[in-house]
Amino acid sequence: MFENMNEQQAREEILKQVAAYCDKYHNTKKEFKEGDRIPYASRVYDSEEMVNLVDSSLEFWLTAGRYTDEFEREFSKYLGVRFCSLVNSGSSANLIAFMALTSPLLGERQVKRGDEVITVAAGFPTTVTPVIQYGAVPVFVDVTIPQYNIDVTKLEEALSDKTKAVMIAHTLGNPFDLEAVKAFCDRHNLWLVEDNCDALGSVYEIDGSKKLTGTIGDIGTSSFYPPHHMTMGEGGAVYTNNPLLHRIVRSFRDWGRDCICPPGCDNFCGHRFDKQYGQLPLGYDHKYVYSHFGYNLKATDMQAAVGCAQLKKFPSFVEKRRHNFAYLKELLSDCADKLILPEAAAHSNPSWFGFLMTCKEGVDRTKVVNYIESHGVQTRMLFSGNLIKHPCFDDIRGTEAYRVVGGLEQTDRIMTSTFWVGVYPGMTDEKIEYMAKVIHEALEG
Ligand SMILES: Cc1ncc(COP(=O)(O)O)c(C=O)c1O
Repeated sequence: MFENMNEQQAREEILKQVAAYCDKYHNTKKEFKEGDRIPYASRVYDSEEMVNLVDSSLEFWLTAGRYTDEFEREFSKYLGVRFCSLVNSGSSANLIAFMALTSPLLGERQVKRGDEVITVAAGFPTTVTPVIQYGAVPVFVDVTIPQYNIDVTKLEEALSDKTKAVMIAHTLGNPFDLEAVKAFCDRHNLWLVEDNCDALGSVYEIDGSKKLTGTIGDIGTSSFYPPHHMTMGEGGAVYTNNPLLHRIVRSFRDWGRDCICPPGCDNFCGHRFDKQYGQLPLGYDHKYVYSHFGYNLKATDMQAAVGCAQLKKFPSFVEKRRHNFAYLKELLSDCADKLILPEAAAHSNPSWFGFLMTCKEGVDRTKVVNYIESHGVQTRMLFSGNLIKHPCFDDIRGTEAYRVVGGLEQTDRIMTSTFWVGVYPGMTDEKIEYMAKVIHEALEG
């Protein structure tokens, strides 16, 4: 097949075939019939992603390489932040973001075991997991409906002399009250970690300028797991404007090492053998000096290659999500006597991850969801509902491993009465209309 071709020509030939394969077998549009499965989310891609993936695999560099560099550069540019680190999942991104705050390099602001982190229980577990695993204390505050985000009127009550940080997600794309939370953090010298895993592309206006969520606090995190706003299969990112936090994030991601040489590159700084660290002998190889108890949470270059192609399409994904959300909300506007419909936070233009609804009194969520599911429309709960009620809390429930401030009435209401359907960019108006019809029927039944 490759006769009379050099390597470059052979590669181009393979990639041409890959593009043709993708066009023929992956991007076939099937006509929608009522009752066909409508997933809450799915990958949206074309031959560009597949060509990049194969291109990267032909290079066989495997670990972080040129596609990773490109992704980190382009993603930073998109977000308008100085530093971005690609990692292997959104949960890893949260782990690193939190662990970065435990670095001794932060002096007085280091989060120590027993220190408190304000968060919510109505969300995804791995926003909270690293806090518990490290031995810091999550302090749970209730949320509001229909924003499904932290109730900022409870923040001052949640504060103690041990509070060091606030770490919360922008729920399903709807930004939390960044103005109030940021002002609270600034007032009390607290770190703010924005779990932006479900909100990539959401815009929030603060201090007179429009910014993307994830870039307003000290650290932001993303997930690129398939249902999310863009995908690499598995993947995530940690971003910040703070050079010291960036250095610490890289250290935690890359085995805890002190050295900043990229993989496969030696003596980048020119001081590999001439410094003294910890109690090591003078001149000990800097490549093997560890300033943190770190991990290896890097992604592969194949994941980054897919991400580079997704990023180019990303602005159109956000617009489609906004359109789908607005259309579904319009079609369901007459259900307000039975359902609480979602509402965007003040000062925001969300990049919606899904369409959240809460059943009003007298409407049985289980019945509604069963009807919708049995008519082909996939539904989801708001992840854990109330995280404290899960078996993972059995061992620590009622102990000092966490604190609850006030009641969690709205959190519990979400656990019993809330569900959501998708608005992902692969959805058509026809599917949205069908979803609205099925939801209407479910409420009548
Ligand atoms: C808010 C939030 N944070 C973190 C994550 C974890 O991301 P990943 O699945 O990539 O680990 C998720 C996952 O869906 C999420 O919804």
